Amino acid sequence: MDATSAKLGQGRGVIERYREYLPVSDSTPVISLGEGDTPLVHCPQLSKRVGRACDVFVKNEGVNPTGSFKDRGMTVAVSKALERRASTLVCASTGNTSASAAAYAARAGISCTVILPVGKIAIGKLLQAFVYGARIVAINGNFDDALRIVRELGERNAFTIVNSINPDRIAGQKTAAFEIVDRIGDAPDFHLLPVGNAGNITAYWAGYREYHARQKSTKLPAMIGFQAAGAAPIFHNRVIEKPETVASAIRIGNPASWKQARAAIGESRGAIDTVSDEEIVAAQTWLARHEGIFVEPASAAAIAGFFKCCDSKEATCSFKKIPAKSRIVCTVTGHGLKDPDVIQEQMEELRPVAPTVNDVRRVLGL
Ligand code: F0G
Repeated sequence: MDATSAKLGQGRGVIERYREYLPVSDSTPVISLGEGDTPLVHCPQLSKRVGRACDVFVKNEGVNPTGSFKDRGMTVAVSKALERRASTLVCASTGNTSASAAAYAARAGISCTVILPVGKIAIGKLLQAFVYGARIVAINGNFDDALRIVRELGERNAFTIVNSINPDRIAGQKTAAFEIVDRIGDAPDFHLLPVGNAGNITAYWAGYREYHARQKSTKLPAMIGFQAAGAAPIFHNRVIEKPETVASAIRIGNPASWKQARAAIGESRGAIDTVSDEEIVAAQTWLARHEGIFVEPASAAAIAGFFKCCDSKEATCSFKKIPAKSRIVCTVTGHGLKDPDVIQEQMEELRPVAPTVNDVRRVLGL
C-alpha cells in the first residue's frame, strides 16, 4: 500500500482483502470505510447451553463502520456504481441499508435517495441517513411498498439501486463467510442468522460454497434462518401483507431473495424457523448481560433462534442430538445503539441523590 492510499484509508476493507473473489478490477475506484474484519467472538455461556463440548461463536457485524453488516455489500455496490459513472443511488430500507448507502455515497461524493416506511425506522438509523446527507422520502407504506417504488425508479430514472437485488451487494456480503472460515480454519457446522429481505442468507451461502469449491474448507454449514413470528413469509410460504414485529429491520412480508433463501436452506440441509417478539427482546438482553454484546432486536432473532434450537420441541432444527464438538456461528447483524427504544422502555427513571459518599452508599445499600 502506498502512502496516498493509506491516507485515504483504503488499505483496509473487504475489497482490498478479498479482491480476487469480487467483481472489481484495477480500474474500479475503491470506496471503503474500513468495513469487515469483524470480531468472531467465542461465547462460553452460549456454548454451555448446547453442551457436548460444542463451541458457539458470534460474528459481530455491529462493529462495521455504520454499525451493520450492510457495509460489506455497500463498499462493492458503491465502488461499482462509481466505476459506471452513476450519480445517484437509491434504496428502500428498514433503516440499515439506508444508513450504509448514505455513508458510502457521501464518501464517494455522489447523492443518495432513501425510501423509508414512515414511523418504522429505528431512530439511530434515521439519524444516520440524515447526517450523511441522504435525501429521505417517507412513505405511508411498508418496506415491500418502498422496494416496489425503488424498482420502478431504477427502471425509469438515472438511479442506481443499492438494495440487495443489486448483485454487487451480495458479492460484498459473502466476505463474512470467508472471514469465518479464515478465522476458524474450516466452515462451521451450523450457521444461524436473522432473515428479512433474504439477501444475507443468500450471500453467506454463496460465500461458503465458493470457499468450499476453492478447497478453503472441507465442509458446508447447515444454514438456519430465523424470521420474526409476525413477519415470516418464507416460513409460512406465503406473502405477509401486513408484517409486524418489534424487530423493525426484518419487518418484511415479501422478501426479494425468497427463492435464493429457499435454495440456501434446501441445499445446505438447513431450516427456516420463527421467533416471537418476546423471545427476541429476551435474547437481546440476555446476550448483553451474559456475553457483553449489545445488538439490535433483528440481530437478537438469531440468538432467540439459537435458544429455540437448544430448548424447544417445536424447533425446526434441534441441537439436542448434534455431534459433540460441533461449531455453531450466529451472525448478529446490527449494533444495539441504533434502536434504543425497547431497552429504554425497560429502564426505570433515574432519581438523583445528593453528591455525597453517604447518599451514594445509601442507594447502594452499603
Ligand atoms: N438484521 C438487520 C439488522 C437488518 O438490518 C436486516 C435487513 C436483516 C437482519 C435481514 O437481512 O434482509 O439480508 O435478510 N435490513 C434491510 C435494510 C432490509 O433495509 O436495512 P436480509
